[in-house]
Amino acid sequence: MPLVIAMDGPSGSGKSSASKGVARTLGLRYLDTGAMYRAMTWWMLENGVPVEDGAAVAARAQDPVIESGTDPAAPTITVDGTDVSGPIRTRAVTNAVSAVSSVPAVRARLVELQREIIGAGGIVVEGRDIGTAVAPEAPVKVFLTASAEVRAARRAKDLAADPGASVTVTRAEQERRDRLDSTRTASPLAKAAGAHEIDSTGLSLDEVIEAVVRLAKEHE
Ligand code: C5P
Repeated sequence: MPLVIAMDGPSGSGKSSASKGVARTLGLRYLDTGAMYRAMTWWMLENGVPVEDGAAVAARAQDPVIESGTDPAAPTITVDGTDVSGPIRTRAVTNAVSAVSSVPAVRARLVELQREIIGAGGIVVEGRDIGTAVAPEAPVKVFLTASAEVRAARRAKDLAADPGASVTVTRAEQERRDRLDSTRTASPLAKAAGAHEIDSTGLSLDEVIEAVVRLAKEHE
């Protein structure tokens, strides 16, 4: 398969910045699958669907039209033609996304879209199940981790505009989300067979990007 780089890992591991950086360095496309689960969750909340009710979520999983742009310099995400790149980052969506993404009908729908976008390859894809379920045949698979402290601090920085987002609150919410994402039945977060684990705790962003670029070049 032409180059597909699967970048999986828990929240705050630095996947997004690293994935975009790798895509820009290598001239590849970029897909943020987390944004697609967030877009689905945003739509459910907007439409009053009770997100903890798996059957109710499954019944509406086909309804929103979700489109992802793949330019790493300017990733876009729309739902029914509306740009939702801001609203999908709110705490309301962040705290509801694990419930929605655990519903098999949601995963089936979004994995199909993701495979269409991956198409013939030439792309960096970030998520939780890229190496295990979406593109298990990807030639380069990375499992990116970082200590809980570093991950919570990074997330809190992302949410700096939100007054409720202290490091303590963020860390508790993040631990809950990681627990739900790792223990769900449908495609839980897990290191894929053949994935290279990179611990970004003591690394700069450039060092993480370099490490992944090196793996990609080894594959050539
Ligand atoms: O990466 P991000 O934190 O934006 O992902 C948001 C949520 O989407 C995750 O917590 C997880 O519940 C879900 N997700 C998933 N599978 C993926 C990507 C994200 O279940 N491939």
